Amino acid sequence: MTGPLLQITESPPNQQLTVSVPAAGIALRGRIQVPGDKSISHRALMLGAIAQGETRIQGLLLGEDPRSTAQCFQSMGVTLSDLEDDWVIVKGVGLGHLQEPADVLDAGNSGTTLRLMLGLLASHPDRYFAVTGDSSLRSRPMGRVIKPLAEMGAKIWGRQNNTLAPLAIQGQALKPIHYHSPMASAQVKSCVLLAGLLTDGKTTVTEPSLSRDHSERMLQAFGADLTVDQPNRTVTVNGPATLTGQTVVVPGDISSAAFWLVGAAITPGSELVIENVGVNPTRTGILEALQAMNADITLENERLVTGEPVADLRVRYGPLTAATFSGDLIPRMIDEIPVLAVAALFAKGTTVIKDAAELRVKESDRLAVMASQLNQMGAHITELPDGLEISGGFSALEGAEVDSYTDHRVSMSLAIAALQAKGKTILRRAEAASISYPNFLDTLDQVCSL
Ligand code: S3P
Repeated sequence: MTGPLLQITESPPNQQLTVSVPAAGIALRGRIQVPGDKSISHRALMLGAIAQGETRIQGLLLGEDPRSTAQCFQSMGVTLSDLEDDWVIVKGVGLGHLQEPADVLDAGNSGTTLRLMLGLLASHPDRYFAVTGDSSLRSRPMGRVIKPLAEMGAKIWGRQNNTLAPLAIQGQALKPIHYHSPMASAQVKSCVLLAGLLTDGKTTVTEPSLSRDHSERMLQAFGADLTVDQPNRTVTVNGPATLTGQTVVVPGDISSAAFWLVGAAITPGSELVIENVGVNPTRTGILEALQAMNADITLENERLVTGEPVADLRVRYGPLTAATFSGDLIPRMIDEIPVLAVAALFAKGTTVIKDAAELRVKESDRLAVMASQLNQMGAHITELPDGLEISGGFSALEGAEVDSYTDHRVSMSLAIAALQAKGKTILRRAEAASISYPNFLDTLDQVCSL
């Protein structure tokens, strides 16, 4: 892609994006759609795979991560139609009937694929599985899911005292537990619930604050006997379950919409409508955070689509003010914090983000990487052990050479920051965006008017 604003130098696997903003600036305008929700896409593929009968999925995210999920389940005997089709058809094998794969399962860059799948593999008796991922995933903590599964009787081996992939799993009949998770993680919660599907009796998870609840909603829709005690942040699945294939319409991903919300909120003259975005309350922390900073964001056309709340989001430029974010809000916007840090640079005052140490074990150490890369562009961000302190009040950053560290959300957050930088910004390893947002740069080109 070559234009006045964006230039891509293709040198696979390292793609360099150059953003050159004219002195007169740009504005973000138009109506856009964002790709399908990543969390819902993974779950639709997985539940479709283990249900009886056909699951029809519309709006599946075609990013690298859900492709990893699709490939893993295909290796275990699940038939999928072409992922590029408007409706993807999953022919479920029925719970307990995943085949032993002939080779190592590769979850690529995807923590959701590996952690959720582990619950299913560990509970499939008489099958042996080996799983791995890319170098980022192989350095991410797996002990958080292996611990509860081991309490259920699972047999899992891994590097570094059974905490890192590659992992080997000898499937077992498991016993039900009540797991009090030390962290608000939907991946941990979902892993244990998926293990509970094949386990006789009640498997329960209690989490310290509410994480995304897509698994709970979808498991209920597929017919699992699952109860939610929301005030006590507790979910119980009563196994063994029988799941029946369903129709899933995947809404746009609010985590992807967040880049445009911030881009328009900080760029004078901007107004965007982002259509068909999932607004599940366990995911809308970014809307609340930006609104707390006085961003002009409104929800239009609110509706429910196959069990998930959906709306069109309208965002207009307006002056922002700093705020402090911590506590229960953090898990509800965990993936949007890198781009929220970009917004904070343009807000009046100092923004503080706390209780977000989880960001250190994402696809990269997002606290360290965002602070160092934005500081290269002239920002003043101090890393805290569990967050960031961000001095605001900028009207523009300085163009610089920055790096995505192969982290998709870092890549896109830096591209949005580059729109507000004087001169030329070079973003190395920009292709990371395709993990969750394959056509991010096309949309960037489309919405930027000079
Ligand atoms: C996800 C849960 C979150 C999130 C990730 C997707 C999911 O991770 O960061 O991108 O689909 O369950 P944690 O469970 O580790 O917080």
